[in-house]
Amino acid sequence: MSDKVNLTIDGIEIQVEPGSMIIQAAMDNEMYIPYLCYYPGMKPYGACRMCVVKAEAPTPDGSYRALPGSPASCTTPVSEGMRVETNTDDLVGLRKGIMELLISEHPHGCLNCHRVELCGPTDVCLRHVSVNDRCVTCPKNERCELKDTVRYMEMELTTPLTYSNRHLPLEVKDPYWDMDMNLCIVCSRCVRACDEVRGDRAITLIDKSGRSIIGTAAGTSLLESGCEFCGACIDVCPTGAIVERDYKWDKAVQKISTTCPHCPVGCQLDLDVNKRNKVVRSIPNRQAEANMGMACFKGKFGLDFVNNKNKLKKPMVRKNSILEEVTWPEALDFVASKLENHKKGDYALIASARGTNEDNFAAQKFAGLNKNKRS
Ligand code: SF4
Ligand code: SF4
Ligand code: SF4
Ligand code: SF4
Ligand code: FES
Repeated sequence: MSDKVNLTIDGIEIQVEPGSMIIQAAMDNEMYIPYLCYYPGMKPYGACRMCVVKAEAPTPDGSYRALPGSPASCTTPVSEGMRVETNTDDLVGLRKGIMELLISEHPHGCLNCHRVELCGPTDVCLRHVSVNDRCVTCPKNERCELKDTVRYMEMELTTPLTYSNRHLPLEVKDPYWDMDMNLCIVCSRCVRACDEVRGDRAITLIDKSGRSIIGTAAGTSLLESGCEFCGACIDVCPTGAIVERDYKWDKAVQKISTTCPHCPVGCQLDLDVNKRNKVVRSIPNRQAEANMGMACFKGKFGLDFVNNKNKLKKPMVRKNSILEEVTWPEALDFVASKLENHKKGDYALIASARGTNEDNFAAQKFAGLNKNKRS
C-alpha cells in the first residue's frame, strides 16, 4: 500500500509525501501558486497570504467539508482525498487585493508598465516615475520575485504613483552589501534564513517610525551584530531590499555551475556571469548535497580573484625577455626540457591555494613530495 497522500489540485490527481504543505505539493508537481514569504526548505511562515487557496477535505460520511476561509497553502498540510483549487475568480481577486496592499508601500510605477522591457534608467518615463523609483534602476530588476508575481497576476495598477514612500536612507555601513528598506516587503525570509538555517540571529524585524522593517536588534551594524556574512539573507530576498554591493547592477547573461575553490567542503555555486565575461554573483546551489543552498563568506563574496585582469588564462613562455602566449604542448615541452636538468627534489613547484584538491594533489605528486608514500 502506498504511504503517499492522494489529493487533487485544480482537478489534477497527485500523490505527495505525508506532511507536505499544499504549496510544496503543487511545486513538486510543477504547478504554480503565487507566493512571497514561503521559501522551499524553510519552515512555513504564513505572512504574505499571497498563496491563498480553496480546499475541502472528505468527511466519514463521504461528503466534503470546506476548510474555513481561504487558507494559506504554505501553512496548510495536505490530507487524504483533499480537493484544492488555486485559481478561482475569488482567489484571483483576493490575491490582487493583497498585492495592492503590499505594494502600497513599494515603488511600483514600473511594475505593470508595458514599456518596462524597453526603458533605460535615463529615458523619459511616460508615467513620470522618478528615476530612483524605477524597476529599471533597481539592482534586482528582472531577478525580482515581486515583479514576476505582479506580472503573473496580470495586475492592472491604475494608480502607479500613489504609494507611500518610506523615505528611508540606503544602509551602506556593512562591507559586502547594501540594504534598501524602501524595497522591503517584510516577508521575513531573510530573518528566518539567518535564524533557522544559519543558526545566527544577526538580523530581526524592527520597528522604524511605526513601520516594520529589517535591521539588527540593537541598531548596530551587521559587523557588530554577529553576522557571519554568509549572504543567505541576500539569496532568499525576493526584492531588491538586500543586494550584494559589488557588481550590484550587473545582469547575468550566462550561468555557470562550479565548486567553491576555497576549502574541501566543496560547496556547489551557481555563478552569474555578465556580458563582459566577469563573475558578478555567487549563488549557492539549493540542490547540492554538500551545501544545500548555503555558503560561507568566502564562497559567497570571495570569488572576485577570478576576474583579476592579471590572471593568466593561457600558457606563456618568456622569449627574449618577453612573455609570449604559446600552446599547451609548447609550454609543456619547454618545462620538460628545463626539468631534464634537475633531479627529483632539486626544484620547487609553486601551486595555488585556490586550485582544486585534485590539481594540488597532482602537483605535489609530480613534485615528488610524497616519495616516502605508496601511490
Ligand atoms: S524590488 Fe522588484 S518591484 Fe521593487 S523596484 Fe526592484 S525590481 Fe521593481
Ligand atoms: S549574512 Fe548570514 S549571518 Fe549575516 S545576516 Fe545574513 S543570513 Fe544572517
Ligand atoms: S529584506 Fe528582503 S527577505 Fe528580508 S523581509 Fe525584506 S523583502 Fe523579505
Ligand atoms: S563556501 Fe565556504 S564552506 Fe563552502 S566550500 Fe567554499 S570556503 Fe568551504
Ligand atoms: S507564501 Fe504563503 S503566506 Fe506567504
